[in-house]
Amino acid sequence: MFPIRRNRRLRTNEVIRGLVRETIITPNDFLVPLFVVEGHNIKEEIASMPNYYRYSLDLLKEEVKLLWSLGLKSVLLFVKVEDDLKDNKGTEALNPNGLMQRAIKTVKEVCPDMLVMTDVALDPFSSYGHDGIIENGKIINDATVEVLAEMSISHAEAGANFVAPSDMMDGRILGIREALDQSNFLDTGIMSYSAKYASAFYGPFRDALDSAPVDLQNVPKDKKTYQMDFANREEAIRETEMDINEGADVVMVKPGLSYLDIVRDIRNSFDIPIAVYQVSGEYAMLKAASEKGWLDHDAVMLEQITSIKRAGADIIASYFAKDVVKLLS
Ligand code: PBG
Repeated sequence: MFPIRRNRRLRTNEVIRGLVRETIITPNDFLVPLFVVEGHNIKEEIASMPNYYRYSLDLLKEEVKLLWSLGLKSVLLFVKVEDDLKDNKGTEALNPNGLMQRAIKTVKEVCPDMLVMTDVALDPFSSYGHDGIIENGKIINDATVEVLAEMSISHAEAGANFVAPSDMMDGRILGIREALDQSNFLDTGIMSYSAKYASAFYGPFRDALDSAPVDLQNVPKDKKTYQMDFANREEAIRETEMDINEGADVVMVKPGLSYLDIVRDIRNSFDIPIAVYQVSGEYAMLKAASEKGWLDHDAVMLEQITSIKRAGADIIASYFAKDVVKLLS
């Protein structure tokens, strides 16, 4: 009771603040998203993501070594697929010599201990820019799950440690788990995008992979029939519980900052590692504001990352991972 209890005593100086600090960020917290393109000697900046790049496989090697040297030991791979390889069923995703499969092997070749997670979804491979197969203007669920299961096996065969389905089809975690087990990939994990919202924060990512839904008749304009309505909170618990029951090893909430209430709900409801994806639009916002001189980039970045962990994240997928780790060292 005031004045016996004065909370400011514990804030007197940095030493005492350090002693009582509850949330500490370390390199172990991060999963680094990487964008891979076909070609040679390519490191191209993504227009809406300043200082973030797509790499061809040769330069991917250098980047992966750099990440490892910084203590960043997990990557999440995404590929930008050439237009003429895209179709409705994402056939190219199953090519054992496809860009993703080669990217997995490339990372393992230069850095065998790097934990490799892969994006499992059709959109980068879909001529329509959707995470599912389209029939009569609709995204069909079960046929899509079959492709996702095959895709997961293909990634496991190439050496992926975890597959990360980001599509939001119903039942895909069980479909993928059974397929992996039947192929004897018992140790390949699943990080499920469990509560993934239909969000406008994904814009820059779709630029990065050229994967936005195309503007054609009979192609849905958005992903609202499979990704979640951002007005919903209870639904995130249901989605997450189902994914856990279907065999997810890690669950994810995405996007990050606007959804930290969901992260805390899930933390309080389940005993399972939670990943949070601080998405491309969140990255772009801070870059733009700091370029204008309106926000202190590093200070805001650290505050945001700490907030994500404080909310309950065990794993943070973030385009800021390298910047944060450099800042802390
Ligand atoms: C698609 C996918 C998306 C992201 C990761 N996987 C975009 C989408 O759902 O349209 C977004 C990541 C980001 O914005 O950083 N399967």
